[in-house]
Amino acid sequence: MRRKVIAGNWKMNMLPNEAMAFIEGLAPLVKNTDAEVILCVPYTDLFYSLLTAQETNIKIGAQNMHWEESGAYTGEVSGQMLKSIGVEYVIIGHSERRQYFNETDETVNKKIKAAFANELKPIVCVGETLEQREVGKTEEVITAQTKIALDGLTEEQVENTIIAYEPIWAIGTGKTATAEDANNSIKAIRNEIAKNYGQNIADKVIIQYGGSVKASNAKELFSTSDIDGGLVGGASLKVEEFANIVNYSI
Ligand code: 13P
Repeated sequence: MRRKVIAGNWKMNMLPNEAMAFIEGLAPLVKNTDAEVILCVPYTDLFYSLLTAQETNIKIGAQNMHWEESGAYTGEVSGQMLKSIGVEYVIIGHSERRQYFNETDETVNKKIKAAFANELKPIVCVGETLEQREVGKTEEVITAQTKIALDGLTEEQVENTIIAYEPIWAIGTGKTATAEDANNSIKAIRNEIAKNYGQNIADKVIIQYGGSVKASNAKELFSTSDIDGGLVGGASLKVEEFANIVNYSI
């Protein structure tokens, strides 16, 4: 059985003192969960968050990285740098980065390879726009994004990639995909992986749902056959709300 993985994506929010207070508050509330609990925090919070999360079951991730190890890339942070301070996870190809910072399926693929080269676990985002959904292209878009993202990875790397299905129209809008719809899209992603890497591997890949996940809808979403947890934006900024998402089954 696949484990549930519940990750917060703080986006461009939280100062170091707020991050530390958040983690101190969250740790006792989620200490008994079987789920993997991850907080993907801004670069400036990483070190403080890692220190505060020591001796808890909370893992820390970054929200982006560059694919080169080092060099003349002003303002960028590499996988090697993240690894050097103890970061375990990194979000790659979030739709906000694709939309505002020109990330493409190809750069996403390069970043995933660089993440693995530095022993970081990538959380790779895919998802359709409202326009694509309305013309019936959801499956085509998300399977193509998945295929290019995973291109050239070893079977073991594919198995260790976390995919987050985040329909763009559901992000920050309060509109959630129905559990059935989200589950069907995630099944399509899993089938695409099975086609290229075999059912055995596809069955092991963690595929999350993201887009207006809250404590009130987490149970319905996470109880479906194929949704293996969530990538949570706004609701991950409140300790109680995020803890209730992690503890959705209680
Ligand atoms: P919201 O949960 O705020 O809709 O954001 C989802 C998201 O983009 C997580 O990466």
